[in-house]
Amino acid sequence: MSEKTGTNITKAANGSPKPSSPNSDLKNEFAAFLNYAPAPESSEHIEIKDRYQHFIDGDFTEPVKNRYFKSINPATEAVLSEFAEGTSEDVDAAVKAARKAYDKQWSVLSGKERGKYIFRIARMIQERSRELAITETMDGGKPIRESRDVDVPLAAAYFFYYAGWADKLKYAFPGKTPVPVGVCGQIIPWNFPLLMLSWKIAPALAAGNTVVLKPAETTPLTALKFAEICRDAGLPKGVVNIVTGAGQTGAALVDHPDVDKIAFTGSTEVGKIIQKSLAGTSKKYSLELGGKGPNIVYDDAPVDQAVEGVINAIFFNQGHVCCAGSRLLVQEGIAEKLIEKLKARMDSLIVGDPLDKNTDIGAINSKMQFEKIEKYIEIGKNEGAEFYQSSSELPSNGFFCKPTIFTGVSQSNRIVQEEIFGPVLTIQTFRTPQEAIEKANNTPYGLASGVWTDKGSKIFETGKSVRSGVMWSNTYNKFDPTSPFGGYKESGIGREGGLHGLYPYVNLGH
Ligand code: NAI
Ligand code: MG
Repeated sequence: MSEKTGTNITKAANGSPKPSSPNSDLKNEFAAFLNYAPAPESSEHIEIKDRYQHFIDGDFTEPVKNRYFKSINPATEAVLSEFAEGTSEDVDAAVKAARKAYDKQWSVLSGKERGKYIFRIARMIQERSRELAITETMDGGKPIRESRDVDVPLAAAYFFYYAGWADKLKYAFPGKTPVPVGVCGQIIPWNFPLLMLSWKIAPALAAGNTVVLKPAETTPLTALKFAEICRDAGLPKGVVNIVTGAGQTGAALVDHPDVDKIAFTGSTEVGKIIQKSLAGTSKKYSLELGGKGPNIVYDDAPVDQAVEGVINAIFFNQGHVCCAGSRLLVQEGIAEKLIEKLKARMDSLIVGDPLDKNTDIGAINSKMQFEKIEKYIEIGKNEGAEFYQSSSELPSNGFFCKPTIFTGVSQSNRIVQEEIFGPVLTIQTFRTPQEAIEKANNTPYGLASGVWTDKGSKIFETGKSVRSGVMWSNTYNKFDPTSPFGGYKESGIGREGGLHGLYPYVNLGH
């Protein structure tokens, strides 16, 4: 319990007590005086089968080679379920089903009818939102607060949004005749499993394509729940197919000759492999890859708001966010104050059980990712950076990492240049806007960025000069289905979301 009481009383010059603003001595006891009682979300009513098959041609089907792999709950390391390991035979069956559905059903259905199915899917996501949020959190480790309030509602919103385009495509591309691309192979990562599925499947279906989707191997569960939704919505067989497995399954999908388009979200490394294998083919592709987002705080920014924004930018979803604000660039005059407040705010973050509604930072998605983050923390220390970790207590099981910052880093440090994909922030200072912009642009990535200032002119000037697909001003990590998202440089090719997100799924005739 803090000694501080509700109001801050300081002594005025004449010695009499004088109330001050509640923030004046924010020595940052934010929530130190509050002890939260556990508030676990119950998973008792959630059905998780012992085993899940592929979803091909409207049915749950055994994998040809009859091999399965396990997915764990990274917060407990307990096995959640088994999933079919997709081989090239399974991928072939799924592509054949998607082709048949494309030719016979989906591409000839009117936009209005397609829209009805997509609206129905959106509503069913809402109806099953609690179940989807809980399973997303159990399979991937993200806090229930986020899966409940961000991932699942946004996934539904993307389906609603693209459902609305299905019968209006000719207005989306005035003067052109949009035709669907055909069968789309879609490969998604583990950081936003259901949300990334919705970014991929919703625009594809709206534009008249059929899909074969491969979820990530550590988080396939919500994709199979989504398959149940497609079945229950009466979606024609073969329009959506889900094949589970790891990288080899993804590669089989990329290499399949009858796939017309590949959409991939994941690491830049795998994105490059995919780009190489697609070179010389007629397949269309879009790639949403890594990032190293600069979050620029000018000295005229409202500091307390900026601190909240910096926290949200890097610690949202344990930092497993391609657009995370993982590089803080703070103007020298306010650096000391801001870093002090940031450390105090970090100390108040609750790291732990992802199913607890109070939890701010859940489990690291996998042992592999956990080890990668640990490795980067070591690299940062060896590079001579100053290191601070929150005083948060960690659970004894599972993969957890304390919120971490590095100060005194330089632009060439690996922890500044490379994507860590964990709750690790590097902090650099700058003196002039020009210096901030140069530092912001000096990495191989260009996905997302943030700017904090009181001046609109600075927002525009910085926004013009920082090469990133998205720039948030005085906020961070906000998503909306109407807004396009995607990167420059090694962050990828193509846009998802909004009208722009339809382009990869249509060919434009005259
Ligand atoms: P990854 O890029 O290997 O995985 C993403 C998806 O691609 C998964 O579904 C995976 O099974 C599939 N895949 C893997 N190899 C493939 C191949 N050769 N052909 C086709 N599909 C393939 O990412 P991973 O290994 O899970 O994470 C490694 C690092 O990548 C992370 O530490 C993080 O830095 C970064 N990453 C970035 C993401 C982003 O959204 N920017 C998402 C996931 C990871
Ligand atoms: Mg898992």
